[in-house]
Amino acid sequence: MAPAQEAWSSRLGVILAVAGSAVGLGNFLRFPGLAAQYGGGAFMVAYFVSLLIIGLPLGWVEWTLGREGGRRGFHSSPGIFHALLDRPWARHLGVIGFFTPVLIYTYYVYVEAWCLGYAVNALTGRLSEPGLNFGQFFAAFTGVGEDGVALKFSLNDVGLFLILVFILNFVFIYRGISKGIEKVCTYAMPALILIALVILVRVLTLGTPDPSKPEQSVLNGLGYLWNPGNVLEGLRNPELWLAAAGQIFFSLSVGFGVIITYASYLRRRDDVVLSGLTASAANEFCEVGLGGLITVPAAFVFLGVAGIAGQGTFALGFNVLPEVFVRMPGGQVFAAIFFILLFLAAITSSLSMLQPGIAFLEEGFGLGRKASVALLGFATALGTLFVWYFSKDLKAMDTIDFWVGTLMLFVQATILVIIFGWRIGVNEGWRLMHEGAEMRAPDFYRFVLKYITPLFLIGIFVMWLLRNVAGWNFSFRNPAFQPSGYINDLIGPNPSPVAQLTIGLIAISTIFALLLTHLAGNRWNAARAARRHRNS
Ligand code: ALA
Repeated sequence: MAPAQEAWSSRLGVILAVAGSAVGLGNFLRFPGLAAQYGGGAFMVAYFVSLLIIGLPLGWVEWTLGREGGRRGFHSSPGIFHALLDRPWARHLGVIGFFTPVLIYTYYVYVEAWCLGYAVNALTGRLSEPGLNFGQFFAAFTGVGEDGVALKFSLNDVGLFLILVFILNFVFIYRGISKGIEKVCTYAMPALILIALVILVRVLTLGTPDPSKPEQSVLNGLGYLWNPGNVLEGLRNPELWLAAAGQIFFSLSVGFGVIITYASYLRRRDDVVLSGLTASAANEFCEVGLGGLITVPAAFVFLGVAGIAGQGTFALGFNVLPEVFVRMPGGQVFAAIFFILLFLAAITSSLSMLQPGIAFLEEGFGLGRKASVALLGFATALGTLFVWYFSKDLKAMDTIDFWVGTLMLFVQATILVIIFGWRIGVNEGWRLMHEGAEMRAPDFYRFVLKYITPLFLIGIFVMWLLRNVAGWNFSFRNPAFQPSGYINDLIGPNPSPVAQLTIGLIAISTIFALLLTHLAGNRWNAARAARRHRNS
């Protein structure tokens, strides 16, 4: 068991913490990038269907199972599965729920450091120096051009910022649930919403900054993202569904193992239905209402379609937007606060990725907070060093993001929903979910949770495998099989040694995590046997 019983200090605190975990780089960079890429209307339909069928119900499942695990004294996925399912294999199913967030943290914190670095460079005026080539600045700062070159420590390099951000995360996590995570989110969440609103007003009042290009107006910028286009045609594209469902996972932090851990620190009869709904709604407000109205329209009015099209997720934020800010009246200030906004969004998410690992070390091995934080700090430092060194084409980061940050989320989500709907049973799960609830979830969600969510997840997962692993172009008439770059990196004619090394490390971490889970399980079993013995 955890040595000290920690808990959230208020209801608002836990909602802000879960929303803080959800609102991140996904909301302000990934979402607008994807919506623009797939054409607003059809993407938004698939996105909202995924929200209703995967995001919302899975959130409820995690909140419910987490609170239930917490009632039995467990806070990590392996511990919670062990307590709820009472089967020797159960704890191993939960292993993804603590190593996934830890591995995602190793690269997420790298991008978080870019945000802080860009904010400081905006404040010092470096980002608005005449003639600065933003692409070159980005390459030098992040090391995308060559391995090892980002291991530098001037203000123009990521190094200093990475170390600072890394230490900050661990200082906050060391302070614990209510004094650390909750406190940070209580200040950071309102601050980031306020900043986003200020930037939103700036963007929506830009009008048509270049009178010689009347088509580059804010309205057309909004239209570029939000005009429905040919929705039915768009919805026939399976890739669009994969992108929309993947975004829901990433954005709401479902399947990460984070919400289940956060919910385990609730009190016995704290509401989970309304709280889960509120946290998801807060995320959607930040994503659709703020993220979706800022990034792409701002880039559109200054750079037009050519400036947006074909930009990867992060390039839009770090290559394109600095150029946009330079052209904007008051741009230096807006650039600085925009990157501070990204940094705040990122740190409340990265913090949440550490807590499942800390909880596991505490309850699995009886370690105190200091020892757990030190051990996890050491392990994640090694991972981040790896990502930082192998920065060329962001290969290490991309490989972890694909195999862990996407694939594992599907697997974990499927496990969770099957446990809830089929192992615990949807009626019992529903009853648990509504204990202490301040609202009732619509009754048809019983059916959704039992049949629709698992089928939808499995369907999306199979499509994901067909597309990426088998490389099928989804055409029956002219089928072609061209596995994605991630597969080619591993087994193609020109494999990438860095991608292979990264996969090797992921495999070793998985085996290590399974071994640790096995050992922790032995401790839990011994404790349970001793309890039974005492009671008999
Ligand atoms: N949910 C977090 C984000 O959107 C991970 O960035």
